[in-house]
Amino acid sequence: MSIKNLTWHDTSVSREKREILLKQKAKLLWFTGLSGSGKSTVANALDIRLNQRGAATYLLDGDNIRLGINSDLGFSLEDRNENIRRISEIGKLFVDAGLITIACFISPLKVNRQMARETLGEDFIEVFVDCPIEECEKRDPKNLYKKARLGEIKEFTGITSPYEKPENPEIIVNTKDQTIDQCVDKILDYLRL
Ligand code: ADX
Repeated sequence: MSIKNLTWHDTSVSREKREILLKQKAKLLWFTGLSGSGKSTVANALDIRLNQRGAATYLLDGDNIRLGINSDLGFSLEDRNENIRRISEIGKLFVDAGLITIACFISPLKVNRQMARETLGEDFIEVFVDCPIEECEKRDPKNLYKKARLGEIKEFTGITSPYEKPENPEIIVNTKDQTIDQCVDKILDYLRL
């Protein structure tokens, strides 16, 4: 699709001015991992800790976004790609607003996460929420693995749809061996917060 007759306009109040007001550097923390790996749990715990320290944050979470702006999308690889593309663009706006933004999506394919990285540039921090699929399936908090095994959910990540582990994420947290607090500490250490 070609973009015609459009010109980018820098706004008069810059990101830098907003960051000075908020006393922080904006970033996008991109959480990736299987369903049931603990992405939302760790992301929410991180959000609370940042908020308690006076940081201005915003959490973009898979199910919520799919109930709203991305309610037209399903779970084919094409739709997941569009899901991630839109979230990357939304994340970029939140970062431009000066917020420490947390995006929490399975984002199963390397190529999709690479697209997000390219959209965000140096503001992108990939957080791999590592948890063996056997453990995710055992937890099965939403009963989705059970339904996927019964064939009631098609194209389910890790069962009938691929998940490609990140090769060089900035941060890895392991929710099988580490507590939620330990995972959050590791992320805060990386951010030097
Ligand atoms: S992504 O693959 O496009 O990044 P996203 O994180 O937005 O996925 O949504 C995943 C959530 O949708 C899961 O937490 C789960 O609750 C729900 N879901 C419903 N169907 C599927 C499916 N086929 N595969 C994975 N998750 C699904």
